[in-house]
Amino acid sequence: LGSRIAELVTSNLREIPDFPEPGVLFRDITPLLANGPAFRELIDLLARRYDGRVDAVAGLESRGFILAAPLATTLGVGMLTIRKAGKLPGPVIGVDYALEYGTARMELRPDSVAAGDRVLVIDDVLATGGTAGASVRLLRECGAEVVAVSVLLELEALGGRARLEGLTVESAVSF
Ligand code: PRP
Ligand code: MG
Repeated sequence: LGSRIAELVTSNLREIPDFPEPGVLFRDITPLLANGPAFRELIDLLARRYDGRVDAVAGLESRGFILAAPLATTLGVGMLTIRKAGKLPGPVIGVDYALEYGTARMELRPDSVAAGDRVLVIDDVLATGGTAGASVRLLRECGAEVVAVSVLLELEALGGRARLEGLTVESAVSF
């Protein structure tokens, strides 16, 4: 996503060992959100990148919402909420995806998207790509065109990019 965005992310990142489980290094973006000038600059730079290219910004519950809402308002387009199972009132469509143990499901109200809409998908982290992959399927089922999947952090070892083959995947920083 460009060197300035990478710098904003890395210089405002907190790394927490053994969270949420022993052996996991949690990368926390809340210091970036708490840094007013940095958060504003991040959103402005993202808006410059996607200006004129998207009709809506889709945020993935829940941390994706934090980025999608200010980006959508800055771009002057609508925000779509792609939510975890059971949160959206119907009618909804859903896509299940595999977790390490069990499955999860993302849902979308099809009436929030018009066929042909150019949609940017945004989230904080791309790990296995399960969340983003399910979200892309939901949008495509509605006839939307996914312009890009954009994330601040990409955990390369978990293979998310491979799961999103054929899509434009843009990350600020990868580990
Ligand atoms: C985290 C993160 C991404 C997703 C990435 O969300 O915010 O949405 O995992 O993992 P994946 O690429 O393997 O799907 P989480 O489900 O922990 O919930 P949250 O956003 O509500 O905190
Ligand atoms: Mg999430």
